[in-house]
Amino acid sequence: MHKKIRKAVFPVAGMGTRFLPATKANPKEMLPVVDKPLIQYAAEEAVEAGIDVLVFVTGRNKRSIPDHFDKAYELETELEERGKDRMLEIVKNILPPHVSCVYIRQAEALGLGHAVGCARPVVGDEPFAVILADDLVDGEGSGGALRQMVNVYERFSCSVLGVEEVPKDETHKYGVVTPEDMEPDLWAVKGIVEKPAPRDAPSNMAVVGRYILTPRIFELLENTGKGAGGEIQLTDAIASLLKEEQVLAHRFKGKRYDCGSKLGYLQATVEYALKHPELQDDFAAYLDALCAERR
Ligand code: G1P
Repeated sequence: MHKKIRKAVFPVAGMGTRFLPATKANPKEMLPVVDKPLIQYAAEEAVEAGIDVLVFVTGRNKRSIPDHFDKAYELETELEERGKDRMLEIVKNILPPHVSCVYIRQAEALGLGHAVGCARPVVGDEPFAVILADDLVDGEGSGGALRQMVNVYERFSCSVLGVEEVPKDETHKYGVVTPEDMEPDLWAVKGIVEKPAPRDAPSNMAVVGRYILTPRIFELLENTGKGAGGEIQLTDAIASLLKEEQVLAHRFKGKRYDCGSKLGYLQATVEYALKHPELQDDFAAYLDALCAERR
């Protein structure tokens, strides 16, 4: 099977409990890193990888996500009247015109696997991408993480998982693969388990919020029962998939920030601010002064 990857699924129905109360009425995917919400970084990464249909699997309290990607008539009129042309351009060009958004509501938060399964009617019989917006990846000049994974998919026409080495004592936070060497930064996946304790982990190669999957995953998800944490896990369906089809793991280039944790989110904020054209000099000076004061 070699079909172009045209669709990306964004599961955004999680509760965001680690950021309460900030996420009480607002989804965690709308938390900004400097001046853009996490979900926009994720959408831009998908568009850069050639995707033109963004499928958001949403839940309660997520109305601000469709609002963010919609046209904002009142705001645009006001910015126009006030002559704020640069801001107007930013607001008008959140997504390029050829990209469309589809929203599916996941009535119950039954887990990541269930959320991905909800996208089946829109994705259909095509390979597709999944992006978890709270894993923010700065490609640092190598192209986005998903673009790099699409390049692998185009060579091998099979499912590709984005992976990274994590400290051994953190395997319980991730899906962890059993890798078999293929090429530099590329492995055949021989097994995968969700959130293993360090002593049970098959390696320290963890899946980090980027997937390219063949549509067979949808059928397997239908037969996937509750797994780790009592949730329907995407990892468990991938474990079934790799018994039938080749699944690869790709260590993409770039830096990943775990914006689902407060520390990772703050690291992303500081490092993106230090690269932001409007802010970098003043912010660097401020940080230097602050560090000097604390020494
Ligand atoms: C999810 C997946 C896990 C993956 C992780 C990456 O877990 O279930 O396999 O490694 O995302 O961030 P969550 O972080 O939603 O608990």
